[in-house]
Amino acid sequence: MAAPTSPVDMLANLFGPGAEAAEIAVPGRVNLIGEHIDYHNLAVLPMALQRRIRIAFRHRSDSRIRAASAGGFALREFDWTARLDPSPQGDWANYLKAAAQAVAGKWGPGRGIDAAVVSDLPPAAGLSSSSALLTAFTLALLRANGIRATFEELMEVLPEGEYFVGTRGGGMDHAAVLEARAGAALLIRFAPLSAGPVPVPAGWSFLVAHSLTHAEKSGALMAEYNSRRTAGARALRKLGFDSYAALIAAHDWDSLKGLTAQLNEEEARCCLHVAGESLRVHTAVRAMRAADADAFASALNDAHSSARDLLRISCPALDALVDAARAAGAPAARLTGAGFGGCAVIFCMAGERARIRAALMRGFYASRAGFDEAQHLIDAEPSAGALHL
Ligand code: GLA
Repeated sequence: MAAPTSPVDMLANLFGPGAEAAEIAVPGRVNLIGEHIDYHNLAVLPMALQRRIRIAFRHRSDSRIRAASAGGFALREFDWTARLDPSPQGDWANYLKAAAQAVAGKWGPGRGIDAAVVSDLPPAAGLSSSSALLTAFTLALLRANGIRATFEELMEVLPEGEYFVGTRGGGMDHAAVLEARAGAALLIRFAPLSAGPVPVPAGWSFLVAHSLTHAEKSGALMAEYNSRRTAGARALRKLGFDSYAALIAAHDWDSLKGLTAQLNEEEARCCLHVAGESLRVHTAVRAMRAADADAFASALNDAHSSARDLLRISCPALDALVDAARAAGAPAARLTGAGFGGCAVIFCMAGERARIRAALMRGFYASRAGFDEAQHLIDAEPSAGALHL
């Protein structure tokens, strides 16, 4: 991957000279554990990455929004009105419109911007490049209009804004890319929302490795993602609970398993994944606080099995990647993000990371086409979210 150009230079090239540009940076995130449970209002544990989306922008005096992104996302422009019609599915303008709509829904439409976007965050990898773009553009529009939004206010509008693009995700990605702290994972709770750092113990480290199967969330993957969500919600309704938190509090594992006998097979699998994953998140948090690498690793490994066998969101390339990482000596590896492709997160001791990297290059990537080390194999440093950069 070529070094990203400066967004400020790109802005000047695109729109000519003008007033000094403002800049916003929003990182990607990798989820350590807690997959497909944020939308059921259960706690999750991601961390922000050092890879970011950067936007340089200048406000305008009218309501026009114009933006282009390096990496082949051509210029898009529209007038910022209270109700925006979506562009065709898959068009990146939808992320810009989603941001404009999210801001307009709470604060009303304002003056537009000219913007240039640059990113070193691999797209469609399960690292939240799309939520980072939505978040970055939202922050740019707010700043251009002199609005200071709190974390809670942003969390009211951002996950909702994502629906404009067609996904029905939860709030994990936006919370992580906004509120994470350097050197820590972020424990995010929902209903009520809270987010607090869990420091990564000294000597622990993470790698993010791409399966080379592309998980394009605005494509066919969306239907798969949404079907897991609706099966889990149906299961909950049939069991007579209005939240997974209440279901988990009322039943131990064995009685929950018995209860799922009244569900259809898909609902039972999804329900058991959600409940089990929630318990694993709390185990992993306790393990991280106690610097217990074995307990942390086994929670992550179990999370992969559950995602593969119960929720069925893995794919052969992800399973092979996870196996290769463990064969290379990593204590844990699991798919991360929405699944169906994208990345695995690999947990290891810092002193082992370079060796595991090299083993993956030989054992997994050497035989596969399309590998680009800078995009597909990332040393993940727990980084600050956009509100703390
Ligand atoms: C996507 C969604 C998140 C979350 C994950 C799965 O990244 O945007 O809200 O549901 O999938 O854990």
